[in-house]
Amino acid sequence: MSNRRDFLKGMTLAVGAGSILAGSTIAKAKTKAKTPSAKPAFNMSGYCAPKIPKVRMAYVGLGNRGSGAVARIPYIEGVEVVAICDKDKKCTDKVQKLLKDRKLPEAAVYAGSPDAWKKMCQRDDIDLIYIATPWELHTPMAVYAMEHGMHAAIEVPAATTMEECWQLVETSERTRKHCVQLENCCYDFFEMLTLNMARQGMFGDLIHGEGAYIHNLIPLKFSKGGHKRAYADMWRLEHNSTRNGNLYPTHGLGPICQCMDINRGDKMEYLTSMASNDFTMNAQAKARAKKDDFYTKYVDRPWRGNINTTLVRTSRGRTIMIQHDVSSPRPYSRIHLLSGTKGIAHKYPKQYIAFGHKEVSAKYMRVLHKKFTPEIITRIGEMAKQVGGHGGMDFLMDWSLINSLRNGLAVDMDCYDAALWSCITPLSIESIANRSNSVDVPDFTRGGWKTNKPVALKLAAATGVKKVKKDAS
Ligand SMILES: NC(=O)c1ccc[n+]([C@@H]2O[C@H](COP(=O)([O-])OP(=O)(O)OC[C@H]3O[C@@H](n4cnc5c(N)ncnc54)[C@H](O)[C@@H]3O)[C@@H](O)[C@H]2O)c1
Repeated sequence: MSNRRDFLKGMTLAVGAGSILAGSTIAKAKTKAKTPSAKPAFNMSGYCAPKIPKVRMAYVGLGNRGSGAVARIPYIEGVEVVAICDKDKKCTDKVQKLLKDRKLPEAAVYAGSPDAWKKMCQRDDIDLIYIATPWELHTPMAVYAMEHGMHAAIEVPAATTMEECWQLVETSERTRKHCVQLENCCYDFFEMLTLNMARQGMFGDLIHGEGAYIHNLIPLKFSKGGHKRAYADMWRLEHNSTRNGNLYPTHGLGPICQCMDINRGDKMEYLTSMASNDFTMNAQAKARAKKDDFYTKYVDRPWRGNINTTLVRTSRGRTIMIQHDVSSPRPYSRIHLLSGTKGIAHKYPKQYIAFGHKEVSAKYMRVLHKKFTPEIITRIGEMAKQVGGHGGMDFLMDWSLINSLRNGLAVDMDCYDAALWSCITPLSIESIANRSNSVDVPDFTRGGWKTNKPVALKLAAATGVKKVKKDAS
């Protein structure tokens, strides 16, 4: 990209125009535009922070995802839950009870106000904050936390605007605090197998990758609560009804980027994005509004198109397709396709690997698993499956992060990955608004991608895992 200043100016105007059009709180809640520095203050790729033998953790956002994250953490050695925060006290009560049931020390509670998290961040005894709030709060919380001396782990997507992407990068560099996007799909067993195979050259030179988030979430997005009380905020619906782009790119994209060493040997150059019309969500809002006035405000909003397809071209001339569809009746898929000069891997709808016309036999697949399953899975995989969380990948992600912090190792996903994988959303919005014209993707590493080292697959250290007594309740 030739001129980041012009680029950001353009983005600010584009986002500003979108805000007026949408008139929603989310569209308006953007951070101040800021010109990124031309040179990194410090290269966070491969950075090894000082060891933290016991990682003192704070959690903010204890709804569906955050409460599950707290439940997983006691299985890892060398971790302590120091503080928990949710604007809704019912959520902190639930998590405090969970800690008590597991015979763990009580955590300090911050609840009852949308700003309580700031007080929590002002503590001086927290090493890592785990952020699982609605999307528009991720960056403000992570930036504030890093400024207050803690590493930040952020649910996906880490940022919602280009300004926020740069804020994450610049704050992480300036504070030398890790800014890790919690992209659990990078730890899925098949994705990790293919990462190791790609690293060993089994697919040859990678030419093309495809990833997606295809998951019919209409019932969830329109749900007012019930037992899943937290959705009453309707934050998912707000985003989907006001922003037309690939709103959730990182699940499909993260693993492909790791296989292609994006930010570590290759980089994204530009993208183009196209969206269908919305054929289902406004109709759903109208149908619900007939029975329940609550939904009237969602009728005839500028809904995002049902199916978004975004195409990226990289510096090395590879292509990546990223799809997003959370509103059609179809089976779940993240696609996960890697196509190279020697072979191909494909996960959804049917998992296969091929080195020519025919997919390999079940017997040879077992040989490949044996040879290329990475160490993290051979060591921790069985435990991860038992703890659960998307088949074990959530636990592997937590474990890997804690292991890096405890042993002073580089993290698998740094601030540049967080910014790059998240920036697909604002850039796809811009491309769609401009008849799918191409948009440059900024180099968040500012040249670092040429020498940054790929994600490590060999374990340099290994934090233990432990049995935790679960209460019958
Ligand atoms: N990686 C995955 O597989 C995965 C799966 C589900 C959700 N997520 C992500 O996790 C995040 C949370 O999703 P969820 O399904 O748990 O949503 P949720 O609505 O169930 O939970 C969000 C929680 O944040 C709290 N919150 C809102 N504003 C707050 C504030 N100002 N201060 C403190 N707490 C506040 C809410 O009260 C709620 O408890 C999202 O970013 C989502 O994309 C990731």
